[in-house]
Amino acid sequence: MLARSTPNIALIKYWGNRNDALRLPAADSLSMTLSSPTVEVDAEPSDTLHIVSYETDGTEKRLKEADIRRFARHFALCREYLATVEHPDTLPSAVALSIRSQVPPAIGLASSAAVFSAVAMAYAGLIRDRVALTAEQISVMARLGSGSACRSIAGGFAAMRVTGEGIGDAFVEQIASADHWPLHDIIIAPSEREKEHGSTEGHALAPTSRLYTRRIADIPRRQAECIDAILQRDFQKLQTVAEEDCLNMHDVMRTSTPSLDYLTADTHRIVREIDTLRREQHLPVLYTMDAGPTVHLLCTDDAVDAIRSYARSQKQCLVFESRVGPGAKLI
Ligand code: PMV
Repeated sequence: MLARSTPNIALIKYWGNRNDALRLPAADSLSMTLSSPTVEVDAEPSDTLHIVSYETDGTEKRLKEADIRRFARHFALCREYLATVEHPDTLPSAVALSIRSQVPPAIGLASSAAVFSAVAMAYAGLIRDRVALTAEQISVMARLGSGSACRSIAGGFAAMRVTGEGIGDAFVEQIASADHWPLHDIIIAPSEREKEHGSTEGHALAPTSRLYTRRIADIPRRQAECIDAILQRDFQKLQTVAEEDCLNMHDVMRTSTPSLDYLTADTHRIVREIDTLRREQHLPVLYTMDAGPTVHLLCTDDAVDAIRSYARSQKQCLVFESRVGPGAKLI
């Protein structure tokens, strides 16, 4: 069963869990699902867990032991979750996964959201003759592999809503479809270094920051403002709330123990230059960074030419262009 998905870029960030083992976030979050790069996952029943993964050029990627354990744990959690929604033993006892990623390895774009949303969609496809899972249920399965993967199940602008303490109590809710607001994401990746601390580890450290409790208390207000901005296509409002939330998440990261600083001198320089450029030229563009130095520049059609030429003038940076996309699909 073949599924395709893409990453998403968070506008209200998910950082910190109420339950790390279940990847149950402490607060709601919101993102724009991207149209590219894609990841394709084929899942077939098998006697034992078997995973092969291919790079963009088709060469086989050697998976680390920890990666294999993560897929195994994810599969076990999906079975556990399906039992809670009255579908026990619908998934086979093991699967063979084949993962083909079009995410350039050096782009610094978290591919785990694309991978686990595609895996969840492929699992839903495997059992669809017996059970028609809803998008919400498939998004729970995606979340169990990577929290942010939950949101890539829906296209356009997608919220992850957290409603309780149970395994199924955080799921996607589409705020608006891809054709509601055709935004661009011009992605500038200044660093090819693999990050030292992955986000799974980072979520567990978030509560050690003295800014964390305040951040969690502020999220409902920011989430509501972000939803309003999207529904009204109010770019200025979106920019204000998305940048506030991004900078606040990076403050939480920096003040955790140990301190996590994902941003580099290049990130700060790009942010400063974008700030100047948009003030001088009145450009509808906003910046946001996830757990890495890569800068996402979200903009409307009015700003895209200027932002594209700014991005292309960056030396020693990889540039990738994407748009708002349709979300995970069976193909
Ligand atoms: O899905 P994870 O566990 O890789 O966490 C994603 C965290 C951020 O990308 C920093 C924020 C987000 O909401 O996507």
